[in-house]
Amino acid sequence: MADFLSGYSIQYWLESCPQGYLEDTEYGHAAGVGEPELVLADGLLREQAIKVTTQLVVGERCALAASSGLINAAPDEAAKRFLATQTLDEARHVEIFTQRLYDLGVGKGDLESTLREHANPNLVKFAETMLEKVDAKDFIPGVVGQNIILEGMAFSVFEMMHAANQKLNPKFGQTLSGTIADERRHVGFGENYIGALIKQHPEKKAEIEKMQKEMSYYMLATFADQFSGDENRAELDEMRKKAREAAGDGAPEGQWQGRNLADLDPEQMEGLLSNTVIGEFKTRLGRIGIDYQTPVRP
Ligand SMILES: [Fe+2]
Ligand SMILES: [Fe+2]
Repeated sequence: MADFLSGYSIQYWLESCPQGYLEDTEYGHAAGVGEPELVLADGLLREQAIKVTTQLVVGERCALAASSGLINAAPDEAAKRFLATQTLDEARHVEIFTQRLYDLGVGKGDLESTLREHANPNLVKFAETMLEKVDAKDFIPGVVGQNIILEGMAFSVFEMMHAANQKLNPKFGQTLSGTIADERRHVGFGENYIGALIKQHPEKKAEIEKMQKEMSYYMLATFADQFSGDENRAELDEMRKKAREAAGDGAPEGQWQGRNLADLDPEQMEGLLSNTVIGEFKTRLGRIGIDYQTPVRP
């Protein structure tokens, strides 16, 4: 196990992350790049950006609680050190997305109330299901919940958001690409490290599968809340129309998973995202010897 873990050392982290792709960034983006005028000036676009960023802060706070909480439950020193680097990554993610809320005009004194107002209750349940394992110092399910389920979801969501925002909002696009690079490392650790532990503890499988099924349910319910419902659809359509007008020439949204996002309606976007994340879950869980459990459809 020592070999592959050298790719998860603090030395590796320093060289690739703070001294690598994050060098010269400020809150995750190039210095001096701000939110686009259009987003700041338009009430609906600004409100939408605040709502979406709230979910990112909620998810990243949960990841911070999980990665720090798992350090003392980890069975060996190399895993503890990796989780220490991950703890700093997650704290950074909380900070950069919180900073985005401030950049969007949320007052510092209004941060917690803004988060409470907009946090998706299904996303909160998703997080709580995993944090129960962390709080119980139940290491194997905790790592699967955090580094495979939560981060597998985050990875795909960030990638899709990156494709949708890259042209319209370079600042947010840059913030996301550094985060995606971090998440790739975190997901890799989950897959590479935990498979061997599950082999040693096959009695943990049933508990992990139960947690995965529950988390998947709340995840799909979160996606449904974000994309469907008449009000959401109308809002999303209106928002994208404005973005398209502002972009002038060409579609403002990019390619993701072989589709042009600008061609998809909200329901199709939800379907593409859900199918992508579930496909990734199946692959990653398969690699660690866990069978994906299909939840009831929310
Ligand atoms: Fe994160
Ligand atoms: Fe992460």
